[in-house]
Amino acid sequence: MIRNLMRVILLFACIVLLLSFGQAQKRAVEAEGHEWWKHAVFYEIYPRSFADSNNDGIGDLKGIDSHLDYLKDLGVDAIWITPCYPSPQVDFGYDVSDYENIDPMYGTLKDFQHLARDARKHDIRIIMDFVLNHTSPQHKWFLDSASSRASARRDWYIWRDGKGPGVPPNNWISGFGGSAWQLDPKTGQYYYHFFAVGQPDLNWRNPAVEKAMFDVTRFWYKRGVSGFRLDAVDLLFEDPNLHDNPVLEGKNDLGDPNMENKYNDKLPEVHTELKKLRKVADENDAVLIGETYTSNRDELKEYYGDHNDEIQLPMDFMFCEVNKLSPSDFRTQIANAESTGGWPVYVIGNHDMTRSYNRYGDGQHNDQIAKIMAGMYLTLRGTPVMYYGEELGMENNDPVRKEDVKDPIGIAGWPAEKGRDGERTPMQWNDSSNAGFSQAAPWLPVPASYKTHNVETELKDPNSVLQFYKRLLVLRHQESALLDGDYVALNQDNRDVLSYLRRHGNEAVLVVLNMSNAKQKIGLDLSPEGFPSAKAMPLLTTLAAPPAGRLDQVALDPFAVYIARISQ
Ligand code: GLC
Repeated sequence: MIRNLMRVILLFACIVLLLSFGQAQKRAVEAEGHEWWKHAVFYEIYPRSFADSNNDGIGDLKGIDSHLDYLKDLGVDAIWITPCYPSPQVDFGYDVSDYENIDPMYGTLKDFQHLARDARKHDIRIIMDFVLNHTSPQHKWFLDSASSRASARRDWYIWRDGKGPGVPPNNWISGFGGSAWQLDPKTGQYYYHFFAVGQPDLNWRNPAVEKAMFDVTRFWYKRGVSGFRLDAVDLLFEDPNLHDNPVLEGKNDLGDPNMENKYNDKLPEVHTELKKLRKVADENDAVLIGETYTSNRDELKEYYGDHNDEIQLPMDFMFCEVNKLSPSDFRTQIANAESTGGWPVYVIGNHDMTRSYNRYGDGQHNDQIAKIMAGMYLTLRGTPVMYYGEELGMENNDPVRKEDVKDPIGIAGWPAEKGRDGERTPMQWNDSSNAGFSQAAPWLPVPASYKTHNVETELKDPNSVLQFYKRLLVLRHQESALLDGDYVALNQDNRDVLSYLRRHGNEAVLVVLNMSNAKQKIGLDLSPEGFPSAKAMPLLTTLAAPPAGRLDQVALDPFAVYIARISQ
């Protein structure tokens, strides 16, 4: 009887608790009128390369802290810090040896607390990178797991017998080259690592692993974190029967056979886990950003969850695959992102791909093209995730000699694959040596263009890429049409000019981007969109003589950006 009563009381307490979490989130939405992450501009920081406060050539948390004013002034609302936990740095932090601490090279937990406090004062939220698929072999869980076949944590990782002497359990290939299996001579079994040998995969089918990892998220939520970027989340589960993957024709840049990762990538179980992670995120008014590589619209839709109960911001990288100034390709990708029913996310670069400045640039008009790209992805309906230095027009600085390469992918794949060092070089603060990043030689060299493309110099130049970003981000925060308006594609047959309207009630903002190196003329009839006698008031443009008033004859210089408020 008493036991039953206790059960009822417990159940009641749980319901009250759940309801109050739900209420807290609802209240936050009601107060702001929207979920906070829908209006936020996110900014990715690679901590090794942002700012070095102790002059050891490697960036750190105090360095980030000292530049919060810059970020606020730029118009950033949330920073995503790539992994800064203790790590042997085999993959520069993506090999974590302790999820609940800070690597001494970046500072201490106390420094993190200071950063969190100062960020709050600046109204900037912090997003941590959650490397949940794998750990470092130096993590105490792996050390224990590898200590003997009888270890209580043996099943925390994926251990299997080989098929025979020197033959791994199956044909799976590592993303970093070679077999995805590593023989451990001590216990005579292989462990699975999708990435480097120094990144053994956790076994998410083991409830103890799941619990430990959820506890990690709570640890950081308690310290004021507003969400996580979920690293390599597609890879959480593997086929328990370890079927061989289908081998495709040809070889990849690392010299391995091409393969369809049918049995170790994007397994349906990933979605079950995402739902659970989302629940904890909701309890903390937090956002989940997914490293969810897909160019498939239906797959993208699935990441949001059938009931919008998985990832709020799945990054799809569809723009990054366009790699040229193609209005029609961008239109298609925008339409894909718009059609899922979820809130779109737009990204043009990150620490794993050549900088957008080089990918879209033609080598002659790169600054203009950088403004076009900003003019596009920062005015679309959705949340943008910027990459540090993009706002300066920072360019890649790829290594020229194999012995200079730091990235394990570049070491494995040289010379066909030079790795990712080029896009991870130090932030360019000024034109002094090492671009003002550090007084010591930085861990990666800055490109020669730092002399002109740096914060200090660009702040003085009204036409710089940085000033353009700043003005654009002011607009983005001010114009309700840019924050909440619909996306309406215009002149869809035009092969040179991308134009669209962001429409919110009686207000609208028009965006016109000439993606060609030639003058263009377009006529815009906005009557079907509810503006029969539309008048334009330029808000931000690179045109010397921007059209104001009527829009039936808009003359555009090569690579022009024209953003205007529309009224009746
Ligand atoms: C993600 C990261 C990448 C890292 C990999 C392994 O793809 O973005 O930098 O190498 O995961 O953790």
